[in-house]
Amino acid sequence: MRSIDYDAEQHQDYARGRALSRQQLRVWMGAFEAALPERRPLVGLDVGSGTGRFTPALARAFGGPVTGVEPSDRMREVAHAQSRHPEVCYLPGTAEELPVPSDSADYALMGWSWHHVQDRPRAARELARAIRSGGRLLLRTNFSDHHPRPWWLEYFPRGYEADASLFQPLHEVIATFTSAGWRVAGFGTVTEPSSGTRAEMLERLRLRTLSFFAQLDPDELETGFRRLEEAVAAGPDAPAPVFAEPLLTLELP
Ligand SMILES: C[S@@+](CC[C@H](N)C(=O)[O-])C[C@H]1O[C@@H](n2cnc3c(N)ncnc32)[C@H](O)[C@@H]1O
Repeated sequence: MRSIDYDAEQHQDYARGRALSRQQLRVWMGAFEAALPERRPLVGLDVGSGTGRFTPALARAFGGPVTGVEPSDRMREVAHAQSRHPEVCYLPGTAEELPVPSDSADYALMGWSWHHVQDRPRAARELARAIRSGGRLLLRTNFSDHHPRPWWLEYFPRGYEADASLFQPLHEVIATFTSAGWRVAGFGTVTEPSSGTRAEMLERLRLRTLSFFAQLDPDELETGFRRLEEAVAAGPDAPAPVFAEPLLTLELP
């Protein structure tokens, strides 16, 4: 995978390119609530919090403070500017080195950030240090052998293959976590409501705020966007099709 430096790219457009509608956010929060204990408040970590797409919503849903941990200064700046909440703070850090005390959180979300982590065994141990016994990790990531099929991916040469190659197989991720003392509490998929029309989705995709686009060469990008534009032109106002995305929940005994 070509690694992404979010301070150099994507931070300007990420919030727009990856915007979630209220209904989409509600579906994700419902899935996270179903995977976490019912008691409140819960103290949370949003690891790889980016522009804070989920961070304030976590504080609202679980009634406790949430620390967004994010290595990119620019992504944190956007988060500060866009998503204020009295119970939310954003700190520099990584999954491998969390800027929080041991046993201080009831849960962590890693949303679309696990594939960016360089030292995954260390991150699994570090998350086990920060989260209390009985606490949970919501790992929203893709797996090369349980890979979603977004409708637009097929238009790009090598699309599915290039996207799936960014991710590990499920058993490898589980082995990393079980070696660090975690156990699997649940595995399923979440299907967001449609992100709007196909034309709206094409406009967001043009911002290239997905690591996938960095894996293609300029010819592949040009061919893919040309094919996608032709397909969208045939029905620009049709709703963008939905697709299922995996959610792995891990628990500390
Ligand atoms: C695709 S964004 C996801 C952001 C946010 N969770 C969301 O869903 O919008 C991936 C984020 O992971 C961050 N990241 C990169 N390396 C990381 C690491 N080692 N630990 C934690 N986060 C990391 C990036 O800086 C980026 O903000």
